[in-house]
Formats: sequence, C-alpha cells, structure tokens
Amino acid sequence: MPEEVIVVRESKNLTGTVQISGAKNSALKLIAASILGQGESIIHNVPLISDIDIMCRVLERLGATVVREGHALRVDTTNVADKETPYELVSKMRASISALGPMVARFGHARMAMPGGCQIGARKIDMHLVGMSVLGVKFSVDHGFLEASAPNGLHGGEIMLEFASVGATENTMMTAVVAEGHTIIENAAREPEIVDLANMLNAMGCKVQGAGNSTIEIEGVPLSSLHPCEHTTVGDRIEAGTFLVGGALMGGPLRVEGINPSFLRMAIIKLKQMGCTVSTGDNWIEVSREGELKPTDIQTLPHPGFPTDLQAQFMLLCSLAKGSSLVTENVFENRFMFAEELMRMGADVNLEGHHAVVEGVDKLMGAPVSCSDLRAGAALVLAGVAAEGETVVHDIYHIDRGYEDYVGKLQSLGADVKRVKVGHSDVWR
Ligand code: UD1
Repeated sequence: MPEEVIVVRESKNLTGTVQISGAKNSALKLIAASILGQGESIIHNVPLISDIDIMCRVLERLGATVVREGHALRVDTTNVADKETPYELVSKMRASISALGPMVARFGHARMAMPGGCQIGARKIDMHLVGMSVLGVKFSVDHGFLEASAPNGLHGGEIMLEFASVGATENTMMTAVVAEGHTIIENAAREPEIVDLANMLNAMGCKVQGAGNSTIEIEGVPLSSLHPCEHTTVGDRIEAGTFLVGGALMGGPLRVEGINPSFLRMAIIKLKQMGCTVSTGDNWIEVSREGELKPTDIQTLPHPGFPTDLQAQFMLLCSLAKGSSLVTENVFENRFMFAEELMRMGADVNLEGHHAVVEGVDKLMGAPVSCSDLRAGAALVLAGVAAEGETVVHDIYHIDRGYEDYVGKLQSLGADVKRVKVGHSDVWR
C-alpha cells in the first residue's frame, strides 16, 4: 500500500492570515455530551479531522444518527441504547472514554473497552473513576471491559481531584448533571474546553456553575428535563498556537483568526519573551519577529499554565534561539519523543528525565522524520519549513487526527509543502 507523507522544503516565510478551526478537544466532548439531550443536537464549528470521525462512530455504535453538514454536526441521540463501546474504537482514540459519563447519566450503566496505554505516557483513568464513584457509580473490569453502574442511583457529592485532569473533570461533570442534589468538584481543570462543555450542558438544561475556575458546582436535574440544543464549538487554541509558532519561527507577520486570545495568555507571554511582537483583537492574534529568537524556559502545567500540547512546537522555537532554554514537561511522562526527531534535523537537545536542555543552533537540516503524536507531527512540518533542504514527514495520520487541512493552511501562508503518496521503496526512513 502506498504511504502518504508530507514533503516540505525550506520556505521564505509564513505570512498572511489563517482561519482557526473549532477545538478538537472541545468538539469531542460536546459530541459525547449530546447523549444527554435525547434528541437532535446541532454542533457548529466542528473540525474535519479523523478524531472527530472516530467519536461520531462511537456515537453511532451506541445507536445515534450523526449527519455532517460541512462544519456542522447533527447528532440525534434519541435511539441511543445501553450498548457497549468496542475496543476497536477506544483503542484508536482514548477520548472515547468521554462517552462514559453521559452513558452512566442516561442509563445508570455503561460498558466500555478499557483504554490502553498511549504513546505519551501511562494516561491512567483512575481519577475519572474516583470522581464518578463519589456520585454512586460502581466499577468492575471484565475481560478488558470497564463496567460502570449506579445500582442505587446517582447522588451529588464532594469531589477533590488529585490533579486537575481534563478528562476526569469532564466525565465527572457529565455524570453529576443528573445526580440528585449538589456536587462540588474541587481542583477541577480550568481549560477553555471545560467552559465550552459546561455552556453546552447548560444549554441542554443542566445547572453547572463555575466552569473555568478550580471549583465547579453542579445542581442535579432530572434526566427527563434535559433536551437537545444548538451550540458552537470554541476555536482551537492549540491549532492557533501552532501557527503562531510558525510565524515566530519564520518572521511573519502571521495572523490567526477565530480564536479568543485569552485562551493563549501563557503562550503569548513566551512568544514575547522570545523576541516576538504579538498583537491581539477580539477574535484574532498576530505575531511577527524582526530580531533574533531569544531563549526562554518553559514548563507545562494545567491551564492557565503553559499547555503541554504546545511543548513540541515551542521546543522547536527554542532549538533556533540564540542561547540555552530549559523545557520541563510536567503533565505527561514520556512526551519528549519529538526531541529525538528534532535532533536528527540538527537540533542540540539534552534530555534529563522530564527536562530538556535546548542549546540553540544556527540552522536545522531537512531530514526524513516520523511523527510520534499529532503535536510532534505538526512541529516537525514547521521544522521542515525552516530547515535547509527537504524534510519528509512520515506517519502523518497523527497530524490528520487533530489538524484540519494543515498542509493547505500552510500553503496559503507561503510554505513549500505538499502531501505525496509514495511506494515504500521510494522514501528513505
Ligand atoms: C486532554 C487533552 C490532551 C491534553 C491534556 C492535558 C483531550 C481529548 N485531550 O487529555 O490533548 O494534552 O488534556 O491538557 O481533551 N491522569 C491520571 N489519571 C486520570 C487522568 C489523568 O493519572 O484518571 C494523568 C494522565 O496520565 C496525564 C495527566 O494526568 O499524565 C493529564 O491528563 P488529563 O488532564 O486527564 O488529560 P486528558 O484528558 O487525557
């Protein structure tokens, strides 16, 4: 079978305006939340990416009808039934686990293949289970499947998450909305996608307050009072941040539109520290750079800290800065696989546990490289835009998981980049 790769050559600049798609990490959960509406919800601004296709298949397997009209999705969950979420889908995408909360809320029971490990660390689900247990959910594992049931119904409770986990906050929230009484989630994740989910839940008739803060309060309502809704997905801050890194790397000016600048406060601070000029408006951010890139230190943390999903892209920037930067990954174990590929392009990176010391070099060199995850993949293509000669990026299905028309958007900004189908013998790995 021919393999598709991205071939990218050193480009003069990345400049112009790019429209940012809806947030992958929001839309996935909004689709899952539509299970609670028990009718046809319409979700706008849904990106055309393969992770969304998988989530649609999860819903279809549970009995929903999903119709795509451009960037809108009509998700009719009237006929969703208490069916199992199969391994073939959960193993492709860990975020399938976000159907767990809504299924338990709707049926008092759910059966789902256990998500396995993942290339970016162990990624356990213990906190999802702890949060939902407080609400009366009992769990057992049966031949690789997680069985969740609430034999005595769901009731509100006080939950203190050990870590501000995005997925655990969302699943707990989506269960608590129909749990009798009051629920408090402390140390909740504060990502903009959590706020987006709470807004959709409230549009369906739920009573969620405080999303975006570390304490979320939920007043349970009867399931029968919930109804479908129409909702627009927020812009993708990680896609926006990725293009801003491209502008910073090549000089720009590069503007991203369709993104609330407050979602990227920490990334903007880092871009400025690295010598970029950043301006913002209601729904756009623009970056440009005239002087040299300055080194900086970055440590990933839950929002509003620096996002782990922009770590690889910023490591690329650091690799071309004048001096030494320290990048610390605190959210995921094992998220430095990108550094190994970047080193093959001439970067000077020393890995020490969850720290990477990055000594800036004058130039990167084009090379054959492979994506280890979607953010690393996006960063490798950007590296190819800046590097001398030609870079061939393999395993680009990772990029397609989360970036809508990445190559087309980069071309519109002036990059010399294309997708190419090749026989395995044509391309050196
Ligand atoms: C979500 C995002 C992902 C992002 C991450 C952190 C989606 C689909 N994915 O992933 O792009 O990188 O947030 O911003 O929205 N953990 C546990 N036990 C749990 C849950 C999490 O130990 O029960 C650990 C994980 O292994 C990881 C850390 O906590 O090391 C963060 O995970 P979490 O915030 O839950 O990320 P996800 O929801 O999986």
